[in-house]
Amino acid sequence: MRRLAVLLTLSLAALLAPAAGVPVHQQGSRNKLLLVSFDGFRWDYDKDVDTPNLDAMAVEGVKARYMTPAFVTMTSPCHFTLVTGKYIENHGVVHNMYYNTSNKVKLPYHATLGIQRWWDNGSVPIWITAQRQGLKTGSFFYPGGNVTYQGATVTLSRKEGPLHNYKDEEEWRANIDTVMRWLTEEGLDLVTLYFGEPDSTGHKFGPESQERKDMVMQVDRTVGYLRDSIRHSGLKSSLNLIITSDHGMTTVHKNASDLVEFHKFSNFSFKDIEFELLDYGPNGMLLPKEGKLEKVYEVLKDAHPKLHVYKKESFPKSFHYANNPRVTPLLMYSEPGYVIHGRLSVQFNNGEHGFDNEVMDMKTIFRAVGPDFRKGLEVEPFESVHVYELLCKLLGIVPEANDGHLSTLLPMLTCEADSGGLSTPSATTYSGSALLPGGHPLLIMGLLVAAVLLDKVK
Ligand SMILES: *[C@@H]1O[C@H](CO)[C@@H](O)[C@H](O)[C@H]1NC(C)=O
Ligand SMILES: *[C@@H]1O[C@H](CO)[C@@H](O)[C@H](O)[C@H]1NC(C)=O
Ligand SMILES: *[C@@H]1O[C@H](CO)[C@@H](O)[C@H](O)[C@H]1NC(C)=O
Ligand SMILES: *[C@@H]1O[C@H](CO)[C@@H](O)[C@H](O)[C@H]1NC(C)=O
Ligand SMILES: *[C@@H]1O[C@H](CO)[C@@H](O)[C@H](O)[C@H]1NC(C)=O
Ligand SMILES: [Zn+2]
Repeated sequence: MRRLAVLLTLSLAALLAPAAGVPVHQQGSRNKLLLVSFDGFRWDYDKDVDTPNLDAMAVEGVKARYMTPAFVTMTSPCHFTLVTGKYIENHGVVHNMYYNTSNKVKLPYHATLGIQRWWDNGSVPIWITAQRQGLKTGSFFYPGGNVTYQGATVTLSRKEGPLHNYKDEEEWRANIDTVMRWLTEEGLDLVTLYFGEPDSTGHKFGPESQERKDMVMQVDRTVGYLRDSIRHSGLKSSLNLIITSDHGMTTVHKNASDLVEFHKFSNFSFKDIEFELLDYGPNGMLLPKEGKLEKVYEVLKDAHPKLHVYKKESFPKSFHYANNPRVTPLLMYSEPGYVIHGRLSVQFNNGEHGFDNEVMDMKTIFRAVGPDFRKGLEVEPFESVHVYELLCKLLGIVPEANDGHLSTLLPMLTCEADSGGLSTPSATTYSGSALLPGGHPLLIMGLLVAAVLLDKVK
């Protein structure tokens, strides 16, 4: 019986899956897609600076009031949620740093961008999924875009060097020119493009600084340059453009009299700790030594009013963060403005992120314009986990299993795109046989019923 159920399920899968390497629908009917991320662009950064180009995008397309990032509100984890549609505990890129609690290796952000086994942890990002379905994709500096997944690499990718200058506006324009060539001459269908600003400036000078405002103007000029380039490349009517980001930014209370400092906590000793990941903004992880978990937890749980320390299994489920083998038995986060100091108190940054994703300063932007998007629409806030389903819909590809729902962002699309001008055979949103491939609806329904019934028997 079991075997029969498996066989039926397999034949069902074969009927539903597009043939390997064959595009889901005819060339020509699919528009191209460019996803751009400006790191650390807080949702309200356009409220105290003139941003004519971002404003024009909202008038001509769709704007979200704000977008709620995943938790932890960190660069690599949040970028990976955008391209997998999974919460962080389900994709496994739980930190900007690669770490190994056995041999104590910790690698910084940039080095981690190149560590294949950190990224390729069971989830297949959209580039690879699209390629498997016959599309060509590219990643320009986008976190996670420069490693192999299950042996496959992104068609064209670029990785920044270790000492990359993230704020060079001339280079930004050159990178846009390259991406335009990828979309036209190289025939790519999907490109993700990453800029390290206004994050770097927000960290260094703080989110309320004039330097941050100047950088937002630079971002806005770049959006103008990008949209001009799209027009000059003849892509205006065949390219959907999304501009978004990974998280916001908040001011660090550097001079507070109540800093969160582990080296000052009474009864806490690093001698009880096997592995620690502290001094990384407001997020911390600890692996206590054998038999020391209870002791360390008791000492830390009320150690500081701005610090929230949890055993892994008690971490709030709403964060969708702790349920992953990579997360240590104790983890913590601090209140907005407070960062966690470990063995020493050193803090250069005036701005930080990583905080609770419900804190308004952690919210970020989402804008979209192009042939499949409605015009002049402002939508209510949503979680970034839903963006992936929208990307798959726009590309007409079958998504991988994920935590998002197409129905959340579908209202952004024009009626034509919505009613099957883009033929995504997504079983989650559409019911009925209209979108089932190739004239076998009855056969498929029959197999489905049989598989479900047989499955119940075992
Ligand atoms: C962690 O380090 C240990 C010891 O070097 C090694 O055996 C293990 O494979 C590493 N784990 C990962 C996930 O890299
Ligand atoms: C994910 O990484 C962890 C170690 O960090 C490893 O134990 C596990 O096998 C990996 N899973 C997959 C599917 O790669
Ligand atoms: C990473 O990017 C470089 C260019 O910056 C490229 O030559 C290389 O092929 C890429 N590697 C992968 C695995 O994508
Ligand atoms: C903190 O104190 C230093 C020196 O006393 C001062 O220069 C700085 O402006 C203060 N920072 C904030 C954010 O208040
Ligand atoms: C530290 O430990 C001592 C001895 O067990 C205890 O009396 C004291 O209350 C503890 N202090 C804190 C802040 O937990
Ligand atoms: Zn970031």
